[in-house]
Amino acid sequence: MAALPNLEDWIVSSNDALNISLVAPTKSGLQSISTFNPRFTYPIFGEEEKIFGYKGLKINLRYRANDMRPHLKVSHTKVFKPQGDAEPDDIVGILQEGNHLPKVAFVKESDFENGSKQLSNDWTPPGTLHDTFDGPDGKYEIWKGSLVDPAVKQLNTRVQILIPLFIEGGSYIGQKPDSDSTELDLSDADRWTLFFLYRKDESESDPSKSSYVFVGYSTIYRFYWFHPTPPASPSDKWELPAGDLDLSQLPCRTRLSQFLILPPFQGKGCGARLYKSIFQHYHKHAQTKEFTVEDPNEAFDDLRDVCDMEYLRTLPEFNSLRINTDIAIPKSATIPSLIVGGDKAEEIQRNAKIAPRQFNRVLEMHLMSQLP
Ligand code: ACO
Repeated sequence: MAALPNLEDWIVSSNDALNISLVAPTKSGLQSISTFNPRFTYPIFGEEEKIFGYKGLKINLRYRANDMRPHLKVSHTKVFKPQGDAEPDDIVGILQEGNHLPKVAFVKESDFENGSKQLSNDWTPPGTLHDTFDGPDGKYEIWKGSLVDPAVKQLNTRVQILIPLFIEGGSYIGQKPDSDSTELDLSDADRWTLFFLYRKDESESDPSKSSYVFVGYSTIYRFYWFHPTPPASPSDKWELPAGDLDLSQLPCRTRLSQFLILPPFQGKGCGARLYKSIFQHYHKHAQTKEFTVEDPNEAFDDLRDVCDMEYLRTLPEFNSLRINTDIAIPKSATIPSLIVGGDKAEEIQRNAKIAPRQFNRVLEMHLMSQLP
């Protein structure tokens, strides 16, 4: 009787098996600009982040660096022969059924490679050019567009898988919470604005030609602004007033929902530049009354604190706020009474459009930094 195989030997880490790369066409074919692994794969391959049934498994998710057309290639050196209930995980099936990638990701490899060689040199990202800056390794451009724009929607569909792969608890735009359905509800697409960050590389042989490399993106959602206070129970009462309204003209609370800089570009100041550009845009946006962030993680909190502090310290009225060291602190003291100019704090916060909790956090850091 043949010995039973040790099933453990056929289990691999899905985080290690999945390789994501950005590729660009060169004269000698498609070349990788960079390759990296995801931080999380549990939303796709399950809590344990393990795949069963292969040896030498490679799941290569290649992206054409400019328009982020994806291509998936799964390869292995050995596959487990089904025995009883044990059979190899259907990797392509899992990705297709979960609607994690658009159909174009599953075409023949030669179609992807031939198509990638043909992409024209005058391609530009979707939306309109919103901002530019010089980074440590080249010129960067931020493009802005509405999710209603089919080109913006297409790019979002191609890159959305990167959100759960890099943000813990991250979900897709339109994903129904606590539902097994993989259908995305984009009926409120007009409320979403996307900011795409690209590095613009000049061709060494011909400076008039340039190519775009996708660096990261952020998604922004517009809520109706309830004033002076939102309903006590936000659950189903956050509805817009009835009637035929031009949503773009209503006062709104603008919420940054997703924010991602791809690993090869992290730690270079790109995130801070993208955040500042988005914040400045909505600070000037007349309808926006408050700019908030949905469920920020620790790394994003750090970035946001640094950027918000930098902005607030450009305001003389903010800079003049300091702890009142001239008084003995009474037991019943309120925060504003402990700060010189504290009665102005709320007005500064409102004008800055930074949500009260975040403003108070940065103010506290500002005041603490003044202590000897
Ligand atoms: N840990 C601690 N501080 C950090 C980190 C970090 N991981 N990342 C940035 N910072 C702070 C630093 O203070 C840094 O200042 P420094 O230049 O003096 O070091 C400042 O933020 C700006 O750093 P950047 O280089 O601009 O940050 P980066 O481009 O790497 O972007 C980000 C940071 C967005 C967290 C990026 O690493 C990323 O996309 N990570 C994976 C996805 C993610 O976590 N997204 C945020 C989820 S929350 C949300 O979407 C609302």
